[in-house]
Amino acid sequence: MARIVATSHLPGDPARLLDGHEWIGPARGDDAWSRVRWLGELATADALVCLLSDRVDAEALAAGPSLRVVANYAVGHDNIDVAAATARGVAVANTPDVLVEASADFTFALLLAAARRLGEGERLVRAGAWAGWTPDLLLGADVGGQTLGIIGMGRIGRAVARRAHGFAMTVLYTRGAPPDGVAATAVTLDELLAQSDVVSVHCPLTAATHRLIDARALAAMKPGAILVNTARGAIVDDAALAEALERGHLGGAGLDVFVNEPAVDARLLAAPRLVLAPHLGSATTTARTRMAELCVNAVRDVLSGRRPANLINGDALAARGRA
Ligand code: DGY
Repeated sequence: MARIVATSHLPGDPARLLDGHEWIGPARGDDAWSRVRWLGELATADALVCLLSDRVDAEALAAGPSLRVVANYAVGHDNIDVAAATARGVAVANTPDVLVEASADFTFALLLAAARRLGEGERLVRAGAWAGWTPDLLLGADVGGQTLGIIGMGRIGRAVARRAHGFAMTVLYTRGAPPDGVAATAVTLDELLAQSDVVSVHCPLTAATHRLIDARALAAMKPGAILVNTARGAIVDDAALAEALERGHLGGAGLDVFVNEPAVDARLLAAPRLVLAPHLGSATTTARTRMAELCVNAVRDVLSGRRPANLINGDALAARGRA
């Protein structure tokens, strides 16, 4: 019987899919385990199911000498030292595809909320400070027919492009390939920043994309443009974004992700025209349940000697074969 450590309870109660194995982790309604707690449980674990907030680094991998697989309950895997896992023959899997539509919907929710100042409007109404309809109350930016720049035309970027098509937007993009049947133009990052009315970030966080959207990039955006980030917080320089909003250079921004979640930079909290969300991109019941199933499938596959469908590091299996 294998021992699977899960750092959090997951929607859909996926432990039931792993009959015959021992699933150890917090019960429904309990908090996710602290790092100290799950590290302690790794000593005899064969598999780890972790959250994007769990740092699976060399220390964690060393704490699990029998680990065979790490299943990350997220598509982004910047929280995992994949090279270290590969070197130890530990397979790493993630949860792509099943969260694409939910994440693209949420990107559009943030985009529209930022453009139309929905957060400010809601706060006004709730504060009892709405004095009535006036011609110039909370005027925002048009979205339909505008230009959307997608940084990172991967699976989620393509789903966002399909939605933009429905809004008659012109779509520009860097990296990747556009969806079939949607006109989109590949441009350089500088061209995208200079021409887009809305810039939406969909690339993974890597050394190359860390603070990709810095003060220079923000200054290169059109005056009044809107920035949306549903990818990873560290891709955007918080202080530079706060400054661009304070100066009124940007017309608004929508952030679902932050550098040190759940902490949010105080300047961002005070910045005007900024819509904030607590990392909700994939947060639909369907997407989160299917993400849990993918994690379980990956664990089951590795424990049964099969290659998981969403394996990130194919070399790990070869490394284990050599061990
Ligand atoms: C991911 O999967 O990487 C998202 O940030 C959370 O679903």
